[in-house]
Amino acid sequence: MLEDKFGRRFHYLRLSITDVCNFRCNYCLPDGYQCENDRDFLKVSEIKTLVSGFAKLGTSKVRITGGEPALRKDLCDIIKVCASTAGIEHIAMTTNGFKLESDIQAWVDAGLDALNISIDSLDPRMFASITGHNKLESILRGIDKALALGVRVKVNAVLMKQYNEKELEPFLAWLKTTPVTLRLIELMQTGDNNEFFQQNHVSGMPIKDKLLAGGWSQLIRDKSSGPAQEFYHPDFEGRMGLIMPYSKDFCASCNRLRISSLGKLHLCLFSEQGLDIRPALQSANDEMLQHQLTALLGDKKATHWLQEGYTGATKHLAMIGG
Ligand code: 5AD
Ligand code: SF4
Repeated sequence: MLEDKFGRRFHYLRLSITDVCNFRCNYCLPDGYQCENDRDFLKVSEIKTLVSGFAKLGTSKVRITGGEPALRKDLCDIIKVCASTAGIEHIAMTTNGFKLESDIQAWVDAGLDALNISIDSLDPRMFASITGHNKLESILRGIDKALALGVRVKVNAVLMKQYNEKELEPFLAWLKTTPVTLRLIELMQTGDNNEFFQQNHVSGMPIKDKLLAGGWSQLIRDKSSGPAQEFYHPDFEGRMGLIMPYSKDFCASCNRLRISSLGKLHLCLFSEQGLDIRPALQSANDEMLQHQLTALLGDKKATHWLQEGYTGATKHLAMIGG
């Protein structure tokens, strides 16, 4: 099992398969995707070596991320490769949802069992003003389809003072009858969004207090669950989650490692650099890969320094998939 010197175990791999995105979320890619580096993204054969190496070191869950993963034409092949790897029990994907309604059946047939979908507002006009796309209704229909197919659905909403801070009520009304987990994420500072961050960051703590006062109970976390805090309420089909990266001890429950679409290992969302493991993937050298992963993990730090405004080399989260 991959374990670091702080006793954290890593059974969860976040694999970015592209950094291209077609949305323009105001906190991430307000000017749209800019093509800066080569687009020599990991090939399916390299992904096969990668996932099998991780699985041999104890990884049981893979989350496919982007950019927007559904922009890759071979997405279903990638899901299939992950699903057919011995030891991998869960395959999830994080998507902006633009292809959800049309493609969910194909993804499920390929082996996907869970989805995270970004919905920063349930007001179609606000949604379009945040993302640049008038897609909310289609995404909501896609979610219904996914639920009907038995897919576990989480919805991510980034908390922003000037946009959706007042939308807790509509979100809660939706959760009354919709069996998804809605996670409110505190806006994180990245290299590119400093001004936006200063204007829009709000803490999730007052929302936690509101939930607890409103009859929600916090789920007891088991050792393997990640940094999100989750809440349930007997009158609601859905659950609430809070992701508060600026809160104390957030990193103590870190359970994931990240691979960029160019084959670099990122020990943290905000590390200074990715560590190149691509040669081992290109030569399909399983042993070298496992050796490298174990050695590189020795450098994983106890925490990020976001509180001090240190964002590492992360210009925006499309680079590494959040
Ligand atoms: N802060 C918080 N969340 C972010 N995301 C993207 N950029 C940021 C940021 N700066 C979220 C997206 C998506 C997930 C992958 O990360 O909304 O749901
Ligand atoms: Fe695209 Fe996700 Fe960034 Fe929005 S947050 S622009 S959907 S990568």
